[in-house]
Parts: sequence; C-alpha cells; structure tokens
Amino acid sequence: MTIPAGETVLLSVASAHRDPAHFKDPDEFNPHLGRSGHLALGHGIHYCLGAPLARMEMETALAALLRRFPGLRLDVPRDQLRWRPTIRARGLISLPVAW
Ligand code: HEM
Repeated sequence: MTIPAGETVLLSVASAHRDPAHFKDPDEFNPHLGRSGHLALGHGIHYCLGAPLARMEMETALAALLRRFPGLRLDVPRDQLRWRPTIRARGLISLPVAW
C-alpha cells in the first residue's frame, strides 16, 4: 500500500489485535491461550511502566471477584451489550451482571 505524502495515518491498536495473520481466531476471547504479541500495554521504549502493577492488580481483583461471586454471569443477552462509540479504546457502556 502506498501512503501519499501529507496524508494523515491513524493507527488502531484494536485493529492490530484482530489481525488474523498474527492471531489465530482473533475474534475469540480465551484467557487460557496466553497470547503474546498484543499491544494493550504498548510496545518499545514507551512500553507501559506500570505493566507489572496492572497485571498484579488485574489478577488480584478478578480472582477476588470470582471467589466472592462464583455464580457471576451476564444479566442480558450478549447481543444487547452496548459498546462505547469510539475507536480509541473498546469498552462497554455498561455490563449488567447477576450472581
Ligand atoms: C490495565 C492498565 C493499563 C493499561 C492498559 C496501560 C496501557 C499503557 C499503554 C498502551 C502505554 C503506552 C502508551 C504509548 O505508547 O504512548 C502505557 C504507558 C505508560 N503507562 Fe500504562 N497502562 C496501564 C496501567 C498503568 C499503571 C498502573 C501505571 C502506573 C502505576 C502506568 C504507567 C504508565 C506510564 C508511566 C507510561 C509511559 C511510559 C513511557 O512513555 O515511557 N500504566 N500504558
């Protein structure tokens, strides 16, 4: 692909994570796969300084949540989940759950 001089290029990390050339089944969320090469915490010299803390917090919080609420589940059909209308960072507007 040729990018003409002076054109603006918008890079999308979210799009990189769905590159089928790099990730097998990119639309599948499977926390057990241990996928490497994702860019959620950045890359290169500006790689997230807080990455070890963020990973530790996530492990602690998710483990505690699932221990406390073992029956935690979605409270709406999956296709009714609403996503924020932005390409910057994908995220839910709300996540209704029951336990
Ligand atoms: C899930 C939580 C987090 C995510 C997804 C995240 C994501 C990122 C990403 C993508 C970058 C790279 C930005 C770029 O290339 O311009 C970054 C950089 C950075 N993050 Fe995080 N971060 C998280 C948590 C944290 C925490 C907990 C801290 C500090 C306690 C932190 C401190 C930083 C700093 C200081 C940088 C700049 C590094 C640099 O420019 O050299 N982050 N983060």
